[in-house]
Amino acid sequence: MLFLSNKAVFKPPKAIRGGIPICFPQFGGFGPLSQHGFCRNSDFELVDGGSTSVTLSMRTTEEQLKLFPHRFELRVTISIGDEELEQTLEARNSGDEPFELTAALHTYIAVSSIEKAHVVGLKGVEYMDSLQDKKRLTEQGDSITFSEELDRIYLSTPDTLEVVDEGKKRAIQIEKEGFPDAVVWNPWIKKAAGMADFGDDEYKEMVCLEPAVAGSGPVALQPGKTWRAKQTLSVRQF
Ligand code: BG6
Repeated sequence: MLFLSNKAVFKPPKAIRGGIPICFPQFGGFGPLSQHGFCRNSDFELVDGGSTSVTLSMRTTEEQLKLFPHRFELRVTISIGDEELEQTLEARNSGDEPFELTAALHTYIAVSSIEKAHVVGLKGVEYMDSLQDKKRLTEQGDSITFSEELDRIYLSTPDTLEVVDEGKKRAIQIEKEGFPDAVVWNPWIKKAAGMADFGDDEYKEMVCLEPAVAGSGPVALQPGKTWRAKQTLSVRQF
């Protein structure tokens, strides 16, 4: 159900081009860090695991504290059921000062072919167009189709969104909690050609639908407090 590029690089510090990279403590360029923050390039350790779920944790290293002077622990729990995958983020501020965060679960959804895919659930929702200097517009269509590069941050969206794939006759549903926004992204031809870890034609096989705290953020996290957010992925055949 998830897309993974044939050219993905599995060697840090490169983020893996596919699956669900974790953008934290910053989404995109919404802050001083490099694109999407450093957690997607960090080592996590196994905290707990069973046959259907796993909890991983990372704590800010001294190196990372030079870039982002706020100690935190980020735990990620992934549970796989017969019908769904749940992914929870829990970030605890373990420092003495509040800090601000933005974040996303950068979910790469595999589709049979991009012209047969569309995203539903966003009609009437305001968005920032990242291809037009974050210009604010309102979604007019019943669904979002793809015929060119698309990179938008939908603001304060409904919590249930779907990528419908008419080719495979299925819809991948994302149910989100604690993420007000949702990013929709497809790099299309030119951007795909410019990415060394992405095949030239692979833009036809994926759509990113990313629960996020982006344009509606940031979230301020007080010392000792935990921010929690979650997505649940499921599939509907039709
Ligand atoms: C999306 C952004 O979330 O991620 C895009 O909205 C960006 O602007 C894309 O191009 C991929 O980012 P990266 O850093 O993984 O190449």
